[in-house]
Amino acid sequence: MKTVLITGASGDVGTHLRRELAGRYKLKLSDLRPLADKAKGEVFAKADISRMADALRITKGVDAIVHLGGYSVEGPWEGILQANIIGCYNMFEAARRNGVKRFLFATSNHAVGFYPRKQKIDHRVYIKPDGRYGVSKVFGEALGSLYSDKYGMEVFLMRIGNVNARPIDKRRLSIVFTPRDLAQLVSIGIDHPKIRFEIVYGVSGNKRSWYDNSNAYRLGYEPQDDSESYAKEILERNEKEHPVGALYQGGAFTHVESVPNPAPLPKK
Ligand SMILES: NC(=O)c1ccc[n+]([C@@H]2O[C@H](COP(=O)([O-])OP(=O)(O)OC[C@H]3O[C@@H](n4cnc5c(N)ncnc54)[C@H](O)[C@@H]3O)[C@@H](O)[C@H]2O)c1
Repeated sequence: MKTVLITGASGDVGTHLRRELAGRYKLKLSDLRPLADKAKGEVFAKADISRMADALRITKGVDAIVHLGGYSVEGPWEGILQANIIGCYNMFEAARRNGVKRFLFATSNHAVGFYPRKQKIDHRVYIKPDGRYGVSKVFGEALGSLYSDKYGMEVFLMRIGNVNARPIDKRRLSIVFTPRDLAQLVSIGIDHPKIRFEIVYGVSGNKRSWYDNSNAYRLGYEPQDDSESYAKEILERNEKEHPVGALYQGGAFTHVESVPNPAPLPKK
């Protein structure tokens, strides 16, 4: 059984993944914050990935890394710098030094958030980040490209839409990514024998998707869920969107300097 490190394991996506991947891999969980409900047998290592020594410690002896840890919304530069720029670099570099072959990175729809909603985009489009957070995800994608080309690391970049059991608004009808579809795509990223450097969209099989996700399908992804069954109910709410946000895939990130309630800096 492969040993898989999940960073950011105490967060929303990590919590879904721990549940969905239990028993399929030997999971090594890590985060700055403790796990809320550590189950019997779960292995947890507290680490601050903005410190290289911590990154080196947690990446020892693992077959693959699912790198989720970091600042997960738009926010102050200092927080993004520490977690998503320095932290992400440390994770790739520590993985290289420890000989970890495979690296899955949770990048985001916000790396390409300034594409208009009326345009369908695939994995080959040029980046169009919609904020500092989006730029930090592009930085992680660039590291993935470098570590794949220069060091032969097998890198799987998932531009995640919105992880949720169901879409919460009109925008999310296009980008929702259910936990079981997330787990399927992550398993492909861990197990597919022929990954060198791939970009895929982390979304379910949504009818209203803005993505041509053919690269994920080529690798065997068969999403089980489609947000369409929620469309009528959500559209009937007639919720007003900001006129700029409504144009672009990144939604509110495209027109606010920082979201009204930016996530607090992680406590060390
Ligand atoms: N949730 C989504 O729908 C979504 C969409 C697109 C991309 N993503 C990406 O997926 C990943 C997980 O997202 P999430 O929603 O679970 O976010 P989250 O904020 O719930 O979890 C992120 C975790 O990273 C940890 N972390 C932050 N700084 C750290 C540091 N310096 N060292 C170690 N751990 C640190 C936090 O403690 C937190 O538990 C993030 O990288 C995010 O950008 C998520």
